[in-house]
Amino acid sequence: MGGRVASGHENLVVGSGPGRLGCCLTTLDSLPEDGIVPGLHPDYPLRTERLDLRPHRMDDLDDLYAFHSRPEVVRYTPWPVRDREQTRVALETKLSQGELTEPGQWLVLAIELRETGTVIGEVLLKWASEADRQGEIGFALHTDYQGKGLAAEAAREVLRVGFEDLGLHRIVAILDDRNQASAQLLERLGMRREAHHIHALKFKGEWANEYVYALLEEDWRAATSS
Ligand SMILES: CC(C)(COP(=O)(O)OP(=O)(O)OC[C@H]1O[C@@H](n2cnc3c(N)ncnc32)[C@H](O)[C@@H]1OP(=O)(O)O)[C@@H](O)C(=O)NCCC(=O)NCCS
Repeated sequence: MGGRVASGHENLVVGSGPGRLGCCLTTLDSLPEDGIVPGLHPDYPLRTERLDLRPHRMDDLDDLYAFHSRPEVVRYTPWPVRDREQTRVALETKLSQGELTEPGQWLVLAIELRETGTVIGEVLLKWASEADRQGEIGFALHTDYQGKGLAAEAAREVLRVGFEDLGLHRIVAILDDRNQASAQLLERLGMRREAHHIHALKFKGEWANEYVYALLEEDWRAATSS
């Protein structure tokens, strides 16, 4: 999940942004003196044509377990096949990952199919650096819902949030070079393959090669203004 092969994002918490927070809900007495709320505090759900993106809730457990337990889904994700209890523990962490308050944190959102209310996957955005305005994206979808353009729909919305609400300059995705479905999705999103690192890490017991894909804010603007 998370575009990253072994980022350990599930243990991370998220950060603040440059203050372009049209999406954010806040109260006046919680504002700092300069009036800029640090970080990203989206007004949920984030709606796309077929999906609602929102923070996880404890009652997502059954839906989450349905894909976290599938070998074909976790083949290139940082986590192993999970049983129900391991999924519950992972879900506990996700509950507090619905906003970014400082760099280094991951935003982790449930992808809910609006038509049925089912959580069919998750999409992530890391606020990697405030000074350099860098981010990272990731995603995972239940096998039954792949091949319908739904992952791309969710990822596009998270790119939008990253560039337009958090004010990022560059968003990367890091993946195992054998993960063809993920590479194809990133190319559909208009991301550029920047690097191919050989034996960059030991992943699930074997040496893995990593692709790094990236998109710049000017690429995003050009693609969305045309
Ligand atoms: C990576 C992953 C999210 C890609 O999911 P996906 O469903 O293939 O991606 P998209 O949402 O872009 O869907 C594209 C497919 O839907 C098809 N499609 C059908 N209807 C569509 C529509 N309305 N709009 C767009 N595409 C549509 C496309 O033709 C394409 O099919 P193809 O792959 O046969 O060419 C998925 O494989 C996954 O979850 N893998 C496991 C977890 C993982 O590895 N995550 C990444 C770690 S780095």
